[in-house]
Amino acid sequence: MRVVHMTDVHFFVPPTIRGAMSKRALGLANLYVAGRVRYFDASDVVRQAVADALDFRPDLFVMTGDLSAMSTDDEFKAAREAFAPLLESVPSVVIPGNHDRYTRGAVRESRMERYFSRWMEGGTWDPDAGAWVGGDGGYPTRFRIGGVDVIATDPCRAHLRSSGRYADGAIAQAEELVRGSRDAGQQVVYLMHYPPLWGDGTPYNRPGHCLTDVDDVLASFDRAPPDLVLHGHKHECWRTDRGPTVVLNCGTTSARSPLEDRAAGYFVIELKEHKVQEVRRRVIKEGVSFWEDHPSTFGT
Ligand SMILES: [Fe+2]
Ligand SMILES: [Fe+2]
Repeated sequence: MRVVHMTDVHFFVPPTIRGAMSKRALGLANLYVAGRVRYFDASDVVRQAVADALDFRPDLFVMTGDLSAMSTDDEFKAAREAFAPLLESVPSVVIPGNHDRYTRGAVRESRMERYFSRWMEGGTWDPDAGAWVGGDGGYPTRFRIGGVDVIATDPCRAHLRSSGRYADGAIAQAEELVRGSRDAGQQVVYLMHYPPLWGDGTPYNRPGHCLTDVDDVLASFDRAPPDLVLHGHKHECWRTDRGPTVVLNCGTTSARSPLEDRAAGYFVIELKEHKVQEVRRRVIKEGVSFWEDHPSTFGT
């Protein structure tokens, strides 16, 4: 099974007066995006990444959140349109990032779900229907496609810090899903927006930016290890292996940074017989087009 993984594209559309949000939220979002505005270019770069990825004929497309900057309708709409060629032709799974749960209003209105619910609610892939069927919504949830189960989680909360925390019992529920999938002989891919680990293998515990219950997540991985963990949030790509689990940070799929590990990239991952057989990274070079990057860094 060939999986394409993208993350953290941060479409940014400043709200109109009608869609005004609190000045504080807007100020922070502006600061957040403006500080990077030189680099982030979602509308152009995502379209290039999507076109590049389709050439690999993926069996599964995964997006690990931060589609937006401020969770506005306009941002989700722009992201939905840009990803449409993948979403409409490849079985896809999308989870939220903290910027997709940016305000209480966005959470209350299920704003992200308005545009992406077809790829958020779990279920089994039905090739005839071209859709996931039997999903019950809510997190954590499971997607099943062939011999692969994708466990999707959401620890993102509406507050103005960038930290996250799972709801009570959610880590244990996800662990049960992992265990059940493993017992059923499925290969397990675990999706979370936040990094569980830094690139050096230590817990990702940066104050104000981390999962505050990251130690509980790691303990759960030790008891019931997924085969593969995919995440974003920290806009820098890396691979960390922890015991039998491969952990991949895709970084961002929309920045034009001159630093290659911070430039727009995405992963093409081959899964076979309970192994992550190959990891390739495609990265934008010289801000122009996507090329193969560091195969030996991510390899097998
Ligand atoms: Fe992000
Ligand atoms: Fe994030």
